[in-house]
Amino acid sequence: MRVISVFTLLFITLSAFGEEVSFITESEYASQLYHSPRGIGCNKCHGEKGEGKLIASYKEKGEKKEFRPPAINSLDYTAFQEAMRGRQKGMPRYYLTQEEIKALYIYLHPEALEDVD
Ligand code: HEC
Repeated sequence: MRVISVFTLLFITLSAFGEEVSFITESEYASQLYHSPRGIGCNKCHGEKGEGKLIASYKEKGEKKEFRPPAINSLDYTAFQEAMRGRQKGMPRYYLTQEEIKALYIYLHPEALEDVD
């Protein structure tokens, strides 16, 4: 009897969790991924909507320098995918899946929802 109730509890817990996951929409998922992509959020460097951001300005050997990750909201899908698969100087490597890259692209280009695959 005890064993059954433990399994029942586990089943209810898992079902509840499953329900919760399916409650988020595709765009909520994409937004979450953009802010927390198994590493430092893209928004921290590229701005809330991928508009680019000035992170720091400093002097090096008397020369004014800036760390300003670029805008990423006007690349085409092919360029975006290539950038995500390659190395970017000053950016962590994420090893994202195709689906994740697509979700991020759609987050940055909601109007492209129908066009990317
Ligand atoms: C620590 C800061 C940082 C974080 C976090 C970061 N990036 Fe970057 N990213 C950069 C920098 C700096 C460059 C420019 C590299 C260069 O100029 O060579 C860049 C370049 C890019 C490019 C290429 C832009 C172009 O014009 O070719 C894309 C696309 C991009 N990042 C997407 C993302 C996405 C999506 C995320 C989150 C998963 C992310 N980045 C997180 C700093 C960051």
